[in-house]
Amino acid sequence: MGNLAVVGLQWGDEGKGKLVDYLAGQFDAVARFNGGSNAGHTVVIGEEKHTFHLVPSGALKGKELLIGAGVALDPVVLREELSLMPGRIREKLMIDGRCSLVSPFDKELDVVLEQMRGGSAIGTTRRGIGPAYAMRALRLALRVSDLSDEPDFSAPSQFYSRLGVDPTRFAAWVEESKLVVDGLVGDVSSRIIDIGQAGGSVLFEASQGTLLDLVHGSYPFVTSSHTVASYVPAGLGIPPSEAGEPLGVMKCYTTRVGSGPFPTEIKGLTSDKIRSVGNEYGATTGRPRRVGWLDLVALRYAVRLNGVKNIAISKLDVLSEVKEFRACIAYRHTGSETRDFQRSLGHLHEVEPVYESPLSMQGAKYDKELPTQAKKLVEYLEAALGVRVSLVSHGEERSRTIEL
Ligand code: GDP
Ligand code: IMO
Ligand code: MG
Repeated sequence: MGNLAVVGLQWGDEGKGKLVDYLAGQFDAVARFNGGSNAGHTVVIGEEKHTFHLVPSGALKGKELLIGAGVALDPVVLREELSLMPGRIREKLMIDGRCSLVSPFDKELDVVLEQMRGGSAIGTTRRGIGPAYAMRALRLALRVSDLSDEPDFSAPSQFYSRLGVDPTRFAAWVEESKLVVDGLVGDVSSRIIDIGQAGGSVLFEASQGTLLDLVHGSYPFVTSSHTVASYVPAGLGIPPSEAGEPLGVMKCYTTRVGSGPFPTEIKGLTSDKIRSVGNEYGATTGRPRRVGWLDLVALRYAVRLNGVKNIAISKLDVLSEVKEFRACIAYRHTGSETRDFQRSLGHLHEVEPVYESPLSMQGAKYDKELPTQAKKLVEYLEAALGVRVSLVSHGEERSRTIEL
């Protein structure tokens, strides 16, 4: 088994956490390469539900856990997250020294920037992700490795002091953060290469989804990191040859949290039903997720950007409770139709979806085998997206997964 990269093909929350937990048994380590505690990845085992924000979702399979340099690390969130987990999980964790830190002041700035945007606010998770990556680009960020030495934090401290932050608060946060990462700092990039040379393999876990990518997503309504498979090697500091095959994850409908264009969004009874059956509430913020039909135009773009040949589909059980199923096959704009998502990016909020209803999934029951309706849906999606469906998820619980 080589390395494998699980990436989200929509606007996040596709079920990456469940899939990573399911697959982790076949790997030696699980590594995060992007994003930060804006991510909320859910793993359900029996009656127990676990939500991961920074710790890779392979934790419950006892795997080595790696947080790569591309991650924006909030030590306060990490401390809370680890405090809810058995101590042996901390022993498995390594954080790359090159990760930039997210401070409480980045979170405050996130809130101020959102307020400044007023009616065009992005609807961020308020986890300070945008400001933290901006600090990195300004070369003002503190990095994890700085916490092991006697850090010189005069530049970021001065920056925040100009914004009204008391320098003693900054110094106290640095001291607190040192304790959190103590003994966890390492070189994740070399560790991944060493695992490979010893004949092992690593599962890479993306945060967010392709359409939230800072550059290739629905800008400016995106996150501040890169969510696509091509960022796996850059985010971890490994050569592209070690980045592994990408495995795309998609829901059989679409959700989005926060603002921004969403061509297939639906409102009313059907969306309420899908939200309640699918429990579509943000794993990080608890906000109700916006709900819409499947968008094949956007998915084809995501498949192409990530170069995925294999996909996993989640939430099929939710469609069993819904009378209708619709798939958007094109966008209509000023009288003409297009199937090109990229060409529509500039006016995504104005396009009208063109739907087809290939089948109804209502009443489909799942056991070890896929029911006929689901087999037809799989064939339909394979033809529409030019991919192979290798996994189907039909429930939040770990065991509700069928390999094809
Ligand atoms: P992630 O961010 O991609 O890891 O996804 P989230 O965990 O934020 O959101 C997915 C939600 O759907 C979580 O509540 C999961 O427990 C749940 N889930 C995952 N797969 C399935 C599935 O096949 N069926 C149902 N009903 N729920 C699922
Ligand atoms: P996972 O990993 C869904 C969204 C926010 C907002 C935008 C920018 O669980 O799939 P940010 O806080 O990143 O600056 O917010 O991105 N967003 C997510 N939506 N799932 C996520 O992560 C998300 N992380 C950020 O709602 O619209
Ligand atoms: Mg999530």
